[in-house]
Amino acid sequence: MAKISGKTFVVTGGAGFIGSNLSGVLVGGGSRVIAYDNLSSGKLKLVESLLNNKNFKFVRGDLLDYNRFSRLCKNERPDAIVHLAANPEVKKGLKDTKLDLMQGVVATYNVLEASRLNDIKGILFPSSSVVYGNATEKPTPETYGPLKPVSLYGASKLAAEGYISAFSSLYGMDSYMYRLANVVGNNLTHGVIWDFITKLKKDKNTLNVLGDGTQKKAYIDVFDCINAMLYIYSKPGSSGSIYNISSDDQISVGSIARMVIERFSRKARIRYGSGKTGWNGDLPNTFISNRKLMDSGFKMRYRKSKDVIEAALSCF
Ligand SMILES: NC(=O)c1ccc[n+]([C@@H]2O[C@H](COP(=O)([O-])OP(=O)(O)OC[C@H]3O[C@@H](n4cnc5c(N)ncnc54)[C@H](O)[C@@H]3O)[C@@H](O)[C@H]2O)c1
Repeated sequence: MAKISGKTFVVTGGAGFIGSNLSGVLVGGGSRVIAYDNLSSGKLKLVESLLNNKNFKFVRGDLLDYNRFSRLCKNERPDAIVHLAANPEVKKGLKDTKLDLMQGVVATYNVLEASRLNDIKGILFPSSSVVYGNATEKPTPETYGPLKPVSLYGASKLAAEGYISAFSSLYGMDSYMYRLANVVGNNLTHGVIWDFITKLKKDKNTLNVLGDGTQKKAYIDVFDCINAMLYIYSKPGSSGSIYNISSDDQISVGSIARMVIERFSRKARIRYGSGKTGWNGDLPNTFISNRKLMDSGFKMRYRKSKDVIEAALSCF
């Protein structure tokens, strides 16, 4: 990819699920990467294979430590920041209501302010399909509104989009925002597949599912997601854009549960919960449109959510 080779990227959350895979893709594509991560949910072992590469540097640090992060930006002078660090779990914000405000909004403000003061011109940001809330139009296009998230995680993503848009407009930054479906695949450390496999390791006979299993969502393979992000970044004229990144269809939680037991513990019985949602703030039916992405010419490896899940299960 022309716009990647020879560039320097700071990747916040670079030791996380998406960040570790992205760091590998960027270094493999000829970029220099500085991964900045506080290891709150990330793991150093996910980037172990990169640690001896001269084009990769890991820095353990917190984005809420503004001075440290700003110093790093001043010293490294990246071409762009890929800002992945955040609380990744919607559920966590239910108990700690300040979590998404700090990790999603204040941390994003710190990234933007450090970019402004150090003249860093590019920011790539993964927002989420949850900003659409219980959208009435499906598949939901990027133009859908009003956006009414139903979780604090979703609220923080929408607020972060607003800050990025305003900083970009005021200070001439190039921004690329992506509303991601559920991302799965290599190095997965959280989410429904990981939860199911972890539960089956503890009890091979029963798989407890949150909700009645009818919740339907769309999925995307982590490498398709990363390649789509970089494809848009490399596309002339796409600065300031928002793209949904998703496969073509949805799959139910019940179907995923059946696929997981088929592969890992055939004798297990699935025990469903009673509600239509897995937890308060969960969305029972999300389906974002990938039309804008596909019309841009991007080619995806796995277009069906079922194939995306199969590929992710084969990574365990
Ligand atoms: N995985 C998905 O399905 C999905 C879907 C939509 C959006 N996203 C977004 O993509 C991004 C990456 O998600 P992920 O699935 O890789 O999650 P992840 O938890 O694996 O990665 C997040 C990383 O950020 C780090 N981090 C968190 N707070 C930090 C802070 N204050 N300072 C420094 N580092 C910090 C964590 O240690 C972790 O390594 C997140 O912003 C997430 O909201 C993910």
